[in-house]
Amino acid sequence: SAELFHLSGRLVIIGGGVAGLMTALALAPEPVLLLSKAPVGREASSVWAQGGLAASLGSDDSVDLHVADTLAAGDGLCDPHVVRDILAAAPDAIEMLIRHGARFDANPDGSLRLGLEAAHSRRRIVHAQGDGSGREVMRALADAVKNTPSVTVLEGLEARRLLTEDGNVTGILAHGPNGAVQIVTDRVVLATGGIGGLFLDSTNPLGSFGQGLALAARAGARLCDLEFIQFHPTALDGPGRPMPLISEAVRGEGAILIDETGARLGGELEPRDVVARAIWKHLQHGKRVFLDARQCLGARFAEHFPVITAACRANGIDPATDPLPVRPAVHYHMGGIAVDRAGRSSLAGLWAAGEVARTGLHGANRLASNSLTEALITGLRVGEDLSGSSPKRLRKPRMQDLPRASHPSAVRPLLSQHLGVTRDETGLRAAIAALQPLAEGHTEAADPALVGLMIAEAALARRESRGAHYRTDFPQKSVLAPSPLARQV
Ligand code: SIN
Repeated sequence: SAELFHLSGRLVIIGGGVAGLMTALALAPEPVLLLSKAPVGREASSVWAQGGLAASLGSDDSVDLHVADTLAAGDGLCDPHVVRDILAAAPDAIEMLIRHGARFDANPDGSLRLGLEAAHSRRRIVHAQGDGSGREVMRALADAVKNTPSVTVLEGLEARRLLTEDGNVTGILAHGPNGAVQIVTDRVVLATGGIGGLFLDSTNPLGSFGQGLALAARAGARLCDLEFIQFHPTALDGPGRPMPLISEAVRGEGAILIDETGARLGGELEPRDVVARAIWKHLQHGKRVFLDARQCLGARFAEHFPVITAACRANGIDPATDPLPVRPAVHYHMGGIAVDRAGRSSLAGLWAAGEVARTGLHGANRLASNSLTEALITGLRVGEDLSGSSPKRLRKPRMQDLPRASHPSAVRPLLSQHLGVTRDETGLRAAIAALQPLAEGHTEAADPALVGLMIAEAALARRESRGAHYRTDFPQKSVLAPSPLARQV
């Protein structure tokens, strides 16, 4: 039987990336437990973010312009109120990070150096050490958490079920170093990140395979926009998994896309989904695609992009002299647990922040570098909402068997084949038929299959192409007003 955890009753945050750490800091000095599968500061997608944080900080910029660019990328499915609310808070969130000790790239006069990325109409991306932004933000937040005595971090604890009674969260069933653990709590924040680990080709840590979505769905929370998965066009096409990201900023510096004959593909600065489909089409014809930065950057590449240079060199490639082989890879999930402005889900006692949440900021396609910004601000908002709350109706949850540890290896080929850059009805129906029995079973594939199944059903129901969701059998955007698709198990 499960060990009953002695810190029971505390508010529990699941996830050790930017959103989870920010929530914990925003709640200080209220005592919180933070559960992290891996050591904090490692294995979270946040650490690997190269792009940076988008915020309207420039003298020629405004919240209105940042909102307009975000709405355009979101292709009709953003919630304009949420977009404004989150983006208006972005400049202050950067200031707060600086107060927490984050060091961002600066101009000689000390002002923040603002980068430009695709589909942004102004320079507004705050970077650290070129392409090491996520690593620096995580370093600052992890240091701040270490110095915050109210946060108890439990590493190596994996949440396997949310326990509920009468539509309220009553606890968490987890696996720890000594076996099953039950944590009694009526307030849980999910900050578990994305779903890239459900696919063969992804830039996300392999452990990010949608466990938070499975926890929320099995507990009865509403999920939304699951069909919208962002494929990054240029992951380094080598044997390593996860795939190293070749930041969009490299194309921003003038790198060009070429095929194996050296012929130029063009369209390098088109929106991410358009570039991903163009590269995908080429690869489908048995060709190869390369990103060529030899002319535009050459020997300066390493100075601009030290993280990417190291990844290329580990694959025996020198960006100064070699074109980089690239292919699209799953990078970010726009859909997730439907939450309101305060991060509350439809299930009493469950909040969500960061990539696992669907706030309405990204709609059908996320604008570059809006994700760390969202993780920070949603973490803050959840913290504000929960601040001063105390356990209300603590009940000892009913005993349950601990489900097996999840592993997505059985579902990766299925999702990669049928839920990739392009989809169609035949493939989606095949995916659903294969995933359904797995999702209803009790094997290690059950939770990953449930998440895949919900995504496939949402993709089947959206009979149009919009943002990152492209149906070859419905290549046009529907003229009807788009509506978000919600899913409840
Ligand atoms: C990139 O640097 O290309 C990725 C940035 C992002 O995902 O927002």
